[in-house]
Amino acid sequence: MVNPAVSPPTLHDSVLSTLPAHSADSTIVTTGGTPLRGNLRIGGAKNAALPMMAAALLTDEPCVLENVPILEDIFVMVELLRSFGAEVEFQPERHRVRIHAREITGREAPAELVERMRASFLVSGPVLARRGELVASAPGGCKLGSRPVDVDVRGFRRMGAKVFVGDGYYEMRTPRLEGADIYMDYPSHTGTENLLMAATLARGTTTIVNAASEPEIFALGNLLTEMGARVSGVGTPHIKVQGVERLRGFHSSILPDRLEAGTFAIGAVVTGGEVVLERVNERDMLPLTYKLREAGAEVWTSESSMMVRAGKYLEPVEIQALPFPGFPTDLQAAFAVLLTQADGQSRIFERVFNDRLRYAEQLRKLGADVHVVSNQEARFNGPTRLRGADVHALDIRSGACLILAGLIAEGETRVHDIQHVRRGYEGIVEKFSALGATIKYA
Ligand code: EPU
Repeated sequence: MVNPAVSPPTLHDSVLSTLPAHSADSTIVTTGGTPLRGNLRIGGAKNAALPMMAAALLTDEPCVLENVPILEDIFVMVELLRSFGAEVEFQPERHRVRIHAREITGREAPAELVERMRASFLVSGPVLARRGELVASAPGGCKLGSRPVDVDVRGFRRMGAKVFVGDGYYEMRTPRLEGADIYMDYPSHTGTENLLMAATLARGTTTIVNAASEPEIFALGNLLTEMGARVSGVGTPHIKVQGVERLRGFHSSILPDRLEAGTFAIGAVVTGGEVVLERVNERDMLPLTYKLREAGAEVWTSESSMMVRAGKYLEPVEIQALPFPGFPTDLQAAFAVLLTQADGQSRIFERVFNDRLRYAEQLRKLGADVHVVSNQEARFNGPTRLRGADVHALDIRSGACLILAGLIAEGETRVHDIQHVRRGYEGIVEKFSALGATIKYA
């Protein structure tokens, strides 16, 4: 239970009033044909902000994060942290969040929050480490195929936690987590983050083998180090953590969103435009940069910006979505739009999720020649002339894919169910508009 004496204002009081008026709109309308041109400053990464916010539960000192994207998933995390007794002050206008978890007063993650986003499960590592008990529902989130949390649960068990798996929920308990040698069957992204955070306060040494190495995990490792954790190897498949008794607060900034940057980079290419993306990490963009160049786009990078320009024509390419540094699964749907314009047959192999090609049916409504060979393989024949139609976003990234397709389709495209897109892209309409696109909420 949250102690009413320290209970902060609800999400609705503090945040909803600052959201733009169109945040309730559920459709985006585009008219294709205008090349994207101009400069765009990339915002903070959602998938880094969420674990970093959860990490604030590891300490009784105040923590401040800057460059936090204003997204619905962030609001869910704000509420979740509050439900465990943390004071959370969210200042959307400054892209800043201040979290102070003096005590973990709650032990139960509210089902209605956990069901909304899989990253909610990220509080389990910190809460288990700090409070020693937790009840959490099986997490929800985008429907991309099976999304278990076995890796997390097996790791917690290895660290000495008793985990009871109920009907749709987990109950975990331990007097104190113990360091352990953990082998991850799959390099789960959030699984790695959860176990890494849990291990920082465990007694003794933990090793995590076959860890995921996405840039957001590397950023979390740096944050934990700033808090006083003794971690090494984060960003590689071999992580070592020497547990400590307590951690300090932090004041840190969220790294640039490589997925937002990637979406706009692809947008520049498919519309035949030229865009400079400011505030990107060159290294994080490499898997996309290579494939854009292979397809015939021109890309110049510096350490913190990149310029992307459409080439004379687009070559067909093969995409294999894999854990980092493989091609990001979160950009394969956006890249599919480019493949509809490439001259010849292209293929996408989705090797991370087992059901992330359902957007192909929506692309077909716009005229794409795409054939889904299996749940994890699609073939594209191009180039095809896309024509405006009514389509539906199925999840965050398929929504971005359909908006991109709408920006090159003849006539008007109405992308419905954009509540999915709002979970992952801050101000997507405003940003595309600033680059010259004809796009609006309806
Ligand atoms: N998996 C297992 N066992 C597990 C956990 C995962 O087999 O115990 C499998 C899943 O079935 C899935 C694959 O591993 O097929 C990938 O799952 P993972 O756990 O790595 O992904 P995630 O942590 O749920 C994060 C991002 C996703 C991103 C993936 C892959 C966050 C909050 N989410 O999800 O982001 O697609 O990693 O990089 O960081 C998005 O932003 O749109 C998004 C879906």
